[in-house]
Amino acid sequence: MKLNLMKPGSAQGATLVAFASSTKKEKTEVVKIHHATLAKKLSESVEDKTITGKAQSVTLFRDISFEGYRHVIVIGIGAKAEAESLRKIAAEVKKCLTAAKINEAVIDFDGLTSSKKDAPDFVQAFVEGALLASYEFTELKSKKSDKNDVKEITLHLCSKLAADAAVKKAFTEGQILGECVNFSRRLGDLPGNMMTPTILAQEAVAAAKGTGIKATVWDKARIKKEKMGGLLGVSQGSDQEPRFIVLEYKGAAASKKPVCFVGKGLTFDCGGISIKPSAAMEEMKYDMCGGANVIGAVIAMAKLKLKINVMAIVPSTENLVNGSATKPGDVHYARNGKSFEVNNTDAEGRLILADALCYASEQKPQAIFDAATLTGAIIMALGNTHTGYFTRDKSLKTKIESAAESSGELVWNMPLTDYHVNDIKGTFADFSNISSGKGAGSATAAAFLEQFVEEGIPWAHFDIAGTAWAVGNRLNYCPAKGASGAMIRTFVELAKQYV
Ligand code: BES
Ligand code: MN
Ligand code: ZN
Repeated sequence: MKLNLMKPGSAQGATLVAFASSTKKEKTEVVKIHHATLAKKLSESVEDKTITGKAQSVTLFRDISFEGYRHVIVIGIGAKAEAESLRKIAAEVKKCLTAAKINEAVIDFDGLTSSKKDAPDFVQAFVEGALLASYEFTELKSKKSDKNDVKEITLHLCSKLAADAAVKKAFTEGQILGECVNFSRRLGDLPGNMMTPTILAQEAVAAAKGTGIKATVWDKARIKKEKMGGLLGVSQGSDQEPRFIVLEYKGAAASKKPVCFVGKGLTFDCGGISIKPSAAMEEMKYDMCGGANVIGAVIAMAKLKLKINVMAIVPSTENLVNGSATKPGDVHYARNGKSFEVNNTDAEGRLILADALCYASEQKPQAIFDAATLTGAIIMALGNTHTGYFTRDKSLKTKIESAAESSGELVWNMPLTDYHVNDIKGTFADFSNISSGKGAGSATAAAFLEQFVEEGIPWAHFDIAGTAWAVGNRLNYCPAKGASGAMIRTFVELAKQYV
């Protein structure tokens, strides 16, 4: 997908994309095409309800020859455009163009909004939606696409405000975010044999090149030396070496404390000795999405040149079973010296994150945010609509709600209390990696993580088990089955609050 931002009249593609709204006036629908001359030409199609103006409704008029355009697409925005609906609208435009084998279109943005205030948000959302919708994971198929298929789609966003600094900035930001989310999605979609801890580290290092990010990768020997007993304990059941990946971006003075983004990089989770059932186990290649997404988020922050110091911290390993694997009852020590019993080897995410949270705490950061496909229980609680987040810090909660509001990603605040901490007290060690109580499995997992965050450091944990992949049934700009890139956009918005 190629995108251009231009003044009206400077681009002449084969196809015009125009917007139509539908508002209620005294109980009757008023449908309006926001392009004066086109509205006249298509008045009959409005009358006979071919054009409804309903949000995401698409009508293609082929070969109608309008003002030099061969085709016209009218797309509904509903009563009023808003950023999230524009992501979806952009995805529908992309789908319509692909189905109609059209590879170039002009979007009449002035027909969408002439508001100087809304224009940047709308441009950014449209660009994000178009790029996110054009993501495909086809690299493992031997048959390349048909010759007749549309090659690359080019969209010209035409607006009187094309030269406006805020609009130009929003256009670039949409492109960076779209590309970084798609980058992380690919890492998630790659299967376990092609996405090992070593490969994840290589991909992170390669992506960091040229962005000003400093990448550091620790191998098994170093991880051992650094006393990361959780990461080591999980990795001992696998033939693949673990990796500890750190990306550092310094956009502010060296003296300014960083914001740390920690992500679970479990490249395949079979459960270990407490093995998982076979059904849908292949989906456990997505258990590194938290890691992939914080890598993508920090790369986006660097590309956006945010004036802030940030770090992505990703502990990465497989959770498999061999003769050396951690057994139920085994005790390991995390980097901060606290001991834990592994009473279920399938609760491994919290063990590798424990060391990463200790390491993040040592950076004396302004705040720590972590993302992890941590518990099946969060899917029971929230399905695949909301990412559940846990924090005891009221000001972080405000920051998170406002960041998610701007990014358009849905989040839900979950409880984390001393009761949950009580449930993960150990019998023979300090802690147990599973709860002694019933239910609230996501909250007790969060309570476990909390033990490794130094007191006083604002911290929030995001459980993305329900939202990291297969959300396409709700979000048309996400793949039906593939990785979504959950929380990348929200983390970038969060980072901006520390500038
Ligand atoms: N990676 C899984 C969580 C998961 C499950 C994510 C399904 C997405 C879909 C995690 O490592 C895990 O296995 N958690 C266990 C914890 C339990 C043993 C306390 C779970 O949720 O069942
Ligand atoms: Mn597991
Ligand atoms: Zn896992």
